[in-house]
Amino acid sequence: MNENLTRLNFYFLQSFNFELLAFIFDDMEKNLTDLRENYKRGELNEKDCPTDPFELFGKWMNEAIDVIQEDANAMTVSTVDSQGRPSSRNVLLKAVHENKLIFYTHYESKKGRQLQANPHICLLFWWKELERQVRIEGLARKASKEMSEAYFHSRPIGSQIGSAASPQSQEVTKKQLIQNFKNLEAQYGQQSQMPKPEDWGGFAITPSLIEFWQGRPNRLHDRIEYQIDENGTWSRRRIAP
Ligand SMILES: Cc1cc2nc3c(=O)[nH]c(=O)nc-3n(C[C@H](O)[C@H](O)[C@H](O)COP(=O)(O)O)c2cc1C
Repeated sequence: MNENLTRLNFYFLQSFNFELLAFIFDDMEKNLTDLRENYKRGELNEKDCPTDPFELFGKWMNEAIDVIQEDANAMTVSTVDSQGRPSSRNVLLKAVHENKLIFYTHYESKKGRQLQANPHICLLFWWKELERQVRIEGLARKASKEMSEAYFHSRPIGSQIGSAASPQSQEVTKKQLIQNFKNLEAQYGQQSQMPKPEDWGGFAITPSLIEFWQGRPNRLHDRIEYQIDENGTWSRRRIAP
């Protein structure tokens, strides 16, 4: 009896799997279509926009940190390959230094290689709780070695070892990764610092365009876009949502 039931279950699952899947996808599509937010938490007017976009960026970032706290500094970084095909991933903004935005990564990773071949980059912040988005376009250059070393050594030793153990973006087995970590842990685990790997460090982004987006009711969102000219002067304009 039990065996028959199991077999019946098996046939049932086999024959109904596709219908079940179709049902799940139909349901998802309906859910996606029905997802709709009427943004109304704030507004952005010209009078709120200083001449220097970094001032407004700093204000929005501080408000995001206050409201969201963890991962308020997460941003999506887009790079392109030699044929212009884009690729995106999230990283953490770690500093704003002399009007440059800094994040840290492996220079031999997919993004690291792409940025060294083509420094054009786009950064995107989405602060849902504030209904705000910021887009930053610009050029990325390697940060100074001193800056990268100082940040690398400010991290807990486990994170330093983790970074050194990972050949980021390359094929690896889990076993190899754990072994790499263990080897380095045996060597440096009792210390507070280990040497920074040569191919790990910061990228410093110099923006040429910064767009501030504030969600508004009925899709009439506020968008203020800043662009810098060849003399280093920022101008701003409102663009349609
Ligand atoms: C919230 C979040 C923050 C992350 N921060 C970083 C970071 O600061 N640096 C980094 O190299 N990877 C970070 N990652 C991992 C990247 O998204 C990505 O997987 C990794 O950098 C490899 O990307 P690539 O193969 O495109 O170069 C983060 C991932 C998430 C989800």
